[in-house]
Amino acid sequence: MKTLCIGFLFAAIAVCAGAPESQLPCDLRETSHGSVCVCNSSYCDYLEQPQLTDSSQIVVISSSKDGLRFKKTTGSVTDGKPLTVEDRPFTDENFNAEAIVVDQERAWLQLANISQRLFINASTRSFRITVAREHKFQNVSIFGGAFTGSVSHLIEKLPQELQDHVYKSFYHPHGIAYNAVRMSIGGSDFDLEPWAYNEWPRNDSQLSNFTSLDPRDLLKIEQLNRLKAVGQLDELKIMAAAWSAPRWMKSNDRWTGFGHLKSEYYQTWALYHLKFLELMRAKNMPIWAISTGNEPLNGVIGFFFVHFMSMGWTPWQQAIWLSDNLGPAIRNSAESKVLIFGNDDQRYTFPSWFRKMRSARNDSLTYLDGLAVHWYWDDLVAPQVIEQAHAEMPNKMILNTESCIGDKPWQTHGPELGSWQRGESYMRAYTQDLRHYFNGWLDWNLVLDEQGGPNYVKNYVDAPIIVNATSRAEIYKQPIFYAIGHFSKFLPPQSVRIETRIQGQLNAFTQLSVVGFQRPDGSVALIIYNGQNLPVDVALDDSQRGTIHLRLPPRSWHTVLYK
Ligand SMILES: *[C@@H]1O[C@H](CO)[C@@H](O)[C@H](O)[C@H]1NC(C)=O
Ligand SMILES: *[C@@H]1O[C@H](CO)[C@@H](O)[C@H](O)[C@H]1NC(C)=O
Ligand SMILES: *[C@@H]1O[C@H](CO)[C@@H](O)[C@H](O)[C@H]1NC(C)=O
Ligand SMILES: *[C@@H]1O[C@H](CO)[C@@H](O)[C@H](O)[C@H]1NC(C)=O
Ligand SMILES: *[C@@H]1O[C@H](CO)[C@@H](O)[C@H](O)[C@H]1NC(C)=O
Ligand SMILES: *[C@@H]1O[C@H](CO)[C@@H](O)[C@H](O)[C@H]1NC(C)=O
Ligand SMILES: *[C@@H]1O[C@H](CO)[C@@H](O)[C@H](O)[C@H]1NC(C)=O
Ligand SMILES: *[C@@H]1O[C@H](CO)[C@@H](O)[C@H](O)[C@H]1NC(C)=O
Repeated sequence: MKTLCIGFLFAAIAVCAGAPESQLPCDLRETSHGSVCVCNSSYCDYLEQPQLTDSSQIVVISSSKDGLRFKKTTGSVTDGKPLTVEDRPFTDENFNAEAIVVDQERAWLQLANISQRLFINASTRSFRITVAREHKFQNVSIFGGAFTGSVSHLIEKLPQELQDHVYKSFYHPHGIAYNAVRMSIGGSDFDLEPWAYNEWPRNDSQLSNFTSLDPRDLLKIEQLNRLKAVGQLDELKIMAAAWSAPRWMKSNDRWTGFGHLKSEYYQTWALYHLKFLELMRAKNMPIWAISTGNEPLNGVIGFFFVHFMSMGWTPWQQAIWLSDNLGPAIRNSAESKVLIFGNDDQRYTFPSWFRKMRSARNDSLTYLDGLAVHWYWDDLVAPQVIEQAHAEMPNKMILNTESCIGDKPWQTHGPELGSWQRGESYMRAYTQDLRHYFNGWLDWNLVLDEQGGPNYVKNYVDAPIIVNATSRAEIYKQPIFYAIGHFSKFLPPQSVRIETRIQGQLNAFTQLSVVGFQRPDGSVALIIYNGQNLPVDVALDDSQRGTIHLRLPPRSWHTVLYK
C-alpha cells in the first residue's frame, strides 16, 4: 500500500518558468525511500539568498516530505493575514492516493481520486512560539562536512561541471553556504585503505621521511582550491584530525584493535601533527583547527565493533600528551594560532572526560580552545551533559564534528535514497544541539556512492549527496542535504541564538521544534520543524514584531526570516 500523508492540498503552482539560473528549482525524482533532487552537468537546483526588502516583509523557506525543497513564500508581517505555506501538488494524473491521516485521537483512511482531490479538514493544531530577541546565547559560525579520501576519490571521477555542482551546492551562498571542512591527518575509515605518513622507516622518532605531503593530500588540496573558487569563499576553515599513528608507534603494531601510542613516541606524535600543519601551510592551505585525535575510545573500548583505523587514548594519557607534548609543540611554533579541540568522541563521554584530563594534568585543558562531539550515540544521554561541560568551560567552542546515519546494526548500511525520516533525524539533532551551546556542526562525508562507500571495511553509511558512480552523470541531493541547509544557508557566521519557546498542547509525542537566531544584519531566522502528519497553525510572538500567523504543511521544516 502506498501510504501518503495528505495535508491541506491547496492547488499550488510552481513558479519555475523564467527563473534566473541562480534560482533553479529542484528536479524532484521519486526514489526507493522518498524523493531526491537530481543534478546533472547542465542542471542543478539553487536558491539565491533571500533579501528582506523592508521591515514588514516575512520570507519562509520550506521543505516537505511531499516534495517542497527550499520553496520560498513571501508575506507581510503587518497585514495580519496568516501566511500559508502551500505544499506541493500531486502531478501524476493516474495516481490513486490512499492517505492515512493520524493524530493522537483519530485516524482516517482516505481513498482519493487525485483529479477530484479531497480536502481533509484534519483538525489543524495551533501553537504559539514566543521569540525573545533580547535573551541571547552562543554564536553559531561553523557549518561544513568532511572531505575524506572517499569523497576526494568519488569527486575526481565526475565530469568537471558536476564536480562544480557538488562544490557550489555545499559552499556557495546559492547552495547551502558551508564554510568549513573536516579532513584526516593521514587516512581515516573513509579511504581506499589505511595509511599514515612516515610508515617507513620504522622506529624513526625524528620522522626523517615525513618531508612532503602524500599524493592523496595533493589531490585534496587541488580540489579544495577549486571548491573555494566555485564557492566564492574568502576563507575555508579546515579542521584536521588523525585517526591513527603509523603502526610502529603503537603498542599493538596494527591500524585498529586495542592499542595506544607508545609513550616513547609521545613527542614524535606531536611533531607529526606540527609537520602536517607546516606542510599544509606551505601549500597555501592552512589548517584552522586540529583535534587531539578521532574517537580515542575506539582503541580502548570500541575495538569489538570498530575495524577501521583507530588509536586508543584514556583521558589521563591524553592529558599528559597534550600538556607535555602536543600543546607546547604547537603553541611554541609558527602554528601557534591553530585551535586545538579535545575529545572528538561521543556525547556520553561529556563532561567526565575533561574532568579526568584535569585530574591527570591540571593545565591540560588550558591548551584546548574547543570541545568536539560526535552525534552517533546522542540518544543515550540528554544534552544536559553538554550544558555541564559548557558551564565548566564557558569560553571553549563546542562543535559537532561528525554525523551520519547507517552506522548502527539496526539501520540500513548505506543510503536510503530519498528518506525523509533520515532528514528529520538531522533536523531534530541540529535543533537540539544548537539549543545547547553548539557553535556549529561538521557533518561526515560530503558525498558517497550508491552503496554508501567506498570504504575499506565495508562500513557503508548515508550522505547528504549521493553520487551515481555507475553513470557518473548524476548526483542526488537527499532530504538530509536540505535539513542541514535550513540551518547552514541562513545562518551566516556570528549569528547568535536567541530564546524561543513553544506553547500549546505539547506532549511527548508532539513532533514540533524551534530554534531561533539573530543574524549579523539584525534580522531573525527561526528554524521550525513540524514532524506531525498534520498541518499546524503557528502564532509567532516576537518581542519586537508582535504576532505573525503561519500555517505550515504536515511533515515539513521551515526557515522563517524577518527583520
Ligand atoms: C539534465 O537535467 C535536466 C533537467 O532535468 C534535463 O532537462 C536535461 O536533459 C539533463 N541533461 C542530461 C544530459 O541528461
Ligand atoms: C476520477 O475523477 C475523474 C473526475 O471526477 C473521473 O472522470 C474519473 O472517472 C475518476 N477515476 C476513478 C478511477 O474513479
Ligand atoms: C475546518 O475546521 C475549522 C476549525 O477546526 C472550521 O472552522 C472549518 O469550518 C472547517 N472547514 C470545513 C470545510 O469543514
Ligand atoms: C619513505 O616513504 C616512502 C613512501 O612514502 C617509501 O617509498 C620509502 O621507502 C620511505 N623511505 C625509507 C628510507 O623508508
Ligand atoms: C623497532 O622497535 C621495536 C621495539 O623496540 C623492535 O622490536 C624492532 O626490531 C625495531 N625495528 C626496527 C626496524 O628497528
Ligand atoms: C598543578 O600541578 C602542579 C604539579 O603537579 C602543581 O605544582 C601546581 O601547583 C598545580 N597547579 C594548580 C593550579 O593546581
Ligand atoms: C563564538 O563563541 C565562541 C565560544 O564561546 C568564542 O570562543 C568565540 O570567540 C565567539 N566568536 C565571536 C566572534 O564572538
Ligand atoms: C545511475 O545511473 C544508471 C545509468 O543511467 C542508472 O541505471 C541507475 O539507476 C542510476 N542509479 C540511481 C541510484 O539512480
